[in-house]
Amino acid sequence: MEIVVTLEQLREALSSWRSEKKTIALVPTMGALHAGHLALVEEASRRADRVVVSIFVNPLQFGPNEDFSQYPRTLSLDQAQLKRHGLASVLFAPTVSVMYPSGASRTTVVVGRMSEVLCGRARPTHFVGVTTVVTKLFHMVQPDFAVFGQKDAQQLAIIRQMVLDLNFAVTVVGVPTVREPSGLALSSRNRYLSIEDKHRASYLFRGLLAAKSLFDAGERNPQVLVAQVIDTLHQVDLTPEYVECVDRELLDPVDGLVSRPVTLALACPVGAARLIDNITLDPGHHE
Ligand code: PAF
Repeated sequence: MEIVVTLEQLREALSSWRSEKKTIALVPTMGALHAGHLALVEEASRRADRVVVSIFVNPLQFGPNEDFSQYPRTLSLDQAQLKRHGLASVLFAPTVSVMYPSGASRTTVVVGRMSEVLCGRARPTHFVGVTTVVTKLFHMVQPDFAVFGQKDAQQLAIIRQMVLDLNFAVTVVGVPTVREPSGLALSSRNRYLSIEDKHRASYLFRGLLAAKSLFDAGERNPQVLVAQVIDTLHQVDLTPEYVECVDRELLDPVDGLVSRPVTLALACPVGAARLIDNITLDPGHHE
């Protein structure tokens, strides 16, 4: 696996693959890699001949009072992990000045309303930061495939919409969330949790599963499903920032009863972390 830092190095690697007609998959990350990221790399390597993993802690997607400075930066461990894993061809780890050559970016990419709902209410500039940096990565790598985790369901929906709206020639692939045995979704921010926090955090998925059990038994009222999640969280004194049932693609709140696939999504502070999770509820799908 080659490690590249500059755009010149990246372009050199890419141009030799292109001349060999190799397909390319990009896995954008912010590092602090865990098994969830490795699942993205595995999916990328199933889809394409060559895999580029990017590691960049993107300042533009953090708000002024968020965890940009504390966010774990473990580049040499990440590099060793990817090397052992053996599926990435290139690790692209640009500096802030490579990614933002003129300092603060004067150009941003905004996917309007979808960025303002759910997490966008508490993090009003977050998704503009994500869509701007992902656009830059798409321009730099020009991948055939780009692979993202379904844990960030809002991010995935917004990126799919951006790709459609801006005619990017990339296929966006979503990969199911990887979980600890307790059900806790893997996240780089789980490092902020104590053992006790982790136990309480496992109730996020427990709540979503409790709502899914109701759904599977025929409940279609989104308010009842949301209330079930909130009740489960209250059992361990957690108060969510939001729990919402939204259209899976456009993230609109469900109007009336659930009659098409929806995402049941939540964000919840646990200890020093703000965690997110979600599941899909599909009325056409019976287990
Ligand atoms: O999901 C993430 O880790 C980030 O939001 C991403 C997509 C790498 C953009 O910085």
